Amino acid sequence: MPNIKFTKFIEGKVSELKQAGVFPHIRVLSGPNSTKATLDGKEVLILCANNYLGLANHPEMIQAAKDAVDKYGAGMGTGRMIMTYDIQNKLEDKLAAFKSSQASLCFATGYIANLGGIWPLMEEGDTIISEELNHASIIDGCRMCRGVNRYVYKHLDMKDLENILKTTVDERSKGKTMIISDAVFSMDGDICKLPEMIELAEKYDAFIFLDEAHASGVLGKTGKGTVEHFNAYGKVEVQMGTLSKAIATVGGYIAGSENLIYYLRRASRPFVFSTGYLDPAVCGATMKALEIIEREPERVQRLWDNTRYFKKELNSLGFDTGVSETPITPVIVGEAENAQRLSRYLYEEEGIYVQAFSYPVVPKGKARVRTIVNAHHTKEQLDYALGAFERAGRKLGII
Ligand SMILES: Cc1ncc(COP(=O)(O)O)c(C=O)c1O
Repeated sequence: MPNIKFTKFIEGKVSELKQAGVFPHIRVLSGPNSTKATLDGKEVLILCANNYLGLANHPEMIQAAKDAVDKYGAGMGTGRMIMTYDIQNKLEDKLAAFKSSQASLCFATGYIANLGGIWPLMEEGDTIISEELNHASIIDGCRMCRGVNRYVYKHLDMKDLENILKTTVDERSKGKTMIISDAVFSMDGDICKLPEMIELAEKYDAFIFLDEAHASGVLGKTGKGTVEHFNAYGKVEVQMGTLSKAIATVGGYIAGSENLIYYLRRASRPFVFSTGYLDPAVCGATMKALEIIEREPERVQRLWDNTRYFKKELNSLGFDTGVSETPITPVIVGEAENAQRLSRYLYEEEGIYVQAFSYPVVPKGKARVRTIVNAHHTKEQLDYALGAFERAGRKLGII
């Protein structure tokens, strides 16, 4: 007989969630994640995946995963503290080079990389100064640091960051200070002000932890991320990233100095106490993805050509794309209902999938559908999508 308090708790939570409608239907892919894909049994144009460089279904990556399975087997079967596969070490070397760092350490996901990367770095008496719109995994990683002073600075507001740094000088003098930020913000597609952050960090004795989830493979001429974009080599102490977006496999990593990674290998609890890491197939496919990105820098160029074109045309149709500077291009429509209607109309009537977001994920009155073009979208596909947005926008009274 299940515990009554437990059962009531779960039933109460489910009923609250259903009433609030905060857990929408998740559409089901029944084939590869390409620009066109089968979603809930219908072939649609995908305009919201994080597959920035169009690598999710690359034949060479599929083959590399198969080769790794043939050589090493289907899964892990051991924790990395007991034995580590050579392919895992090779991937970490390759990732370190990709991030212009001395070394890197992989985790099962980007989320875990943030938990496992932040937590060991901060001790009692240290200070964390965190961006207002940081990803949930950063927030959770910071929450796990005990006895640490925590401050939040307003979104992209360098004056506020400086003010916090200035007014906490005494308190901070006893320990280290970490400024932590997303590089690209996932709801608005704007970019952190890294040069100013570096200047402030140098002036006020702090170090920088940068979450490159939406920046690696996207920013910088060759897709190496924010450090390449701002030419800030050697000025960011910790770069975190995910493999599940532009690199299109799965996993997360921390990149930095030899010493940082030496320390994390011993102090990061998800590394020490979990057997769940990138299995050989993922390592094989990821190394191939990095090789393709290096070999074909034109992918990054195509991503940006598509981004500029799509954003410009959406704006000239009269859509509000907010402050986006990257391929993450929101179409802001106001109320939650409008965003749901736009997303539904585009899927049902036009065969296009874009996801709707509303409060509490974005501020009230700023509900949106979030579009993300990738390097593989053709001009014809983008033009079709723009035509569909125009029809939908007029029909629903958005433009
Ligand atoms: C900014 C940011 N950080 C971290 C993560 C977590 O990465 P992953 O999806 O690999 O767990 C995400 C992804 O959703 C993200 O957008």
